[in-house]
Amino acid sequence: MRSLVVYSSQTDNTRKLAETVYKALTGEKEICPISDAPDPSDWDFIAMGFWLKAGKPDPMSLEYLPRIKGKSLFLFATHGAAAGSEHALNAMNYAKDLAFEAKVVGSYSCQGEVDPKIIEHAQAKPEPPVWIADAPAAVGHPDETNIEELKSLIVSLTAV
Ligand SMILES: Cc1cc2nc3c(=O)[nH]c(=O)nc-3n(C[C@H](O)[C@H](O)[C@H](O)COP(=O)(O)O)c2cc1C
Repeated sequence: MRSLVVYSSQTDNTRKLAETVYKALTGEKEICPISDAPDPSDWDFIAMGFWLKAGKPDPMSLEYLPRIKGKSLFLFATHGAAAGSEHALNAMNYAKDLAFEAKVVGSYSCQGEVDPKIIEHAQAKPEPPVWIADAPAAVGHPDETNIEELKSLIVSLTAV
């Protein structure tokens, strides 16, 4: 099986998850940032990672997700919102809808430390975004527990 890990990451949180997925995969595999992402049609299994912006996958991921067609797809993400929050779940569902022509075999998301300047800027808005209340607790994430959870998930998904 040929596996491709593609990730979008500005501040390395999602990159850490991508590297975890890559290490846990066996067989022929490749990892690359979304800016260098190859044509997804050449791969059997694709793991695609994004970060959340304005409650959705980041803009580059929004463009890449619909291009993944007829492949097994694992989605992963980091965000300032709490893991399992409505905000985070809605964004993951948004990604799944965009990749409707792929076969989504699993997903994982967790908090990712938010740039303090972004928190300050968002908190100063007349109507701060809902996820910002959770953002201070994202410090240090993805942490060891997140990495282990993701690793176990990939190992169990790819076990024969
Ligand atoms: C401009 C901007 C917008 C963001 N919008 C959201 C958002 O809508 N929801 C959320 O949960 N986190 C939001 N975040 C937080 C990031 O998704 C989070 O820190 C993520 O882990 C960043 O991933 P990266 O380090 O891979 O770039 C935003 C961050 C930035 C910089």
